[in-house]
Amino acid sequence: MVAFVQTQAAGVVAEEQASSGVGLFPFSWRKRAFAYAMEHDMDTYESAIEPVKSALFSAHLKALDVTSSTLLEIGLGTGANFAYYPRGLHVLAVEPNVHMRQYAEPRARRHAIHLTYLATTAENLQIVPDASVDAVVSTLTLCSVDDPRAVLNQIARVLKPGGRFLFIEHVCADPQQHPWMNLAQRALDPLQQIVADGCHLCRGTGDLIAAERCFARVDVSRFQVPGSALGLISPHVSGVAYKKAEG
Ligand SMILES: C[S@@+](CC[C@H](N)C(=O)[O-])C[C@H]1O[C@@H](n2cnc3c(N)ncnc32)[C@H](O)[C@@H]1O
Repeated sequence: MVAFVQTQAAGVVAEEQASSGVGLFPFSWRKRAFAYAMEHDMDTYESAIEPVKSALFSAHLKALDVTSSTLLEIGLGTGANFAYYPRGLHVLAVEPNVHMRQYAEPRARRHAIHLTYLATTAENLQIVPDASVDAVVSTLTLCSVDDPRAVLNQIARVLKPGGRFLFIEHVCADPQQHPWMNLAQRALDPLQQIVADGCHLCRGTGDLIAAERCFARVDVSRFQVPGSALGLISPHVSGVAYKKAEG
């Protein structure tokens, strides 16, 4: 297992980033409110996506030896995926919103997850050595990062040969098949970015991952998450991107 030490100084950097901001709705309050909403308002979504998470994570994580494996999760949030991870797994977490931790840390304890925070963003994973993690997970995060392509290149770099990147992301609706949904997403995208902490409704994340040359193979499924309450985030992709094995 790779040993990572989160220094107190690095933790302070994350706190300062989270509390900067000006105006009537200071950044820290928006971040705090978003963390609260992710913890308390996602039950409908989590129930609807449960079959997809169960199938994806059990197929690709069950073979991990928890005594020697490390999983990196980008945009950890409140730890919504811990229930699907093998107990005892070591999880490296990248989560710039420090207000998520009050929810993620007790959840990690409940699921016997060994959690280590890295005080950085998914675009800046230099703290993680090349070819050092067995799996990377991103759920509902590539919609929010500043530079998805840079993130994908970092993921490919830190994965061990043969390692897997597991993803479940909401995406832009197909304009041919769902023109009204696509139009509504485009119209409301600027508002979504404000109310949902930088989340974009119109990203073609599945196509982006499939097009990246940093992976040896990418399997992507496109689907609608059932449930009308999910509205503009119902178009989804899920899948696995494989780093080339050695030899
Ligand atoms: C919609 S939430 C999803 C949280 C969690 N993955 C889930 O499925 O519930 C998006 C998360 O990505 C985080 N995030 C935003 N920008 C990021 C970045 N550049 N690097 C890593 N995480 C980021 C946010 O703080 C937030 O916790």
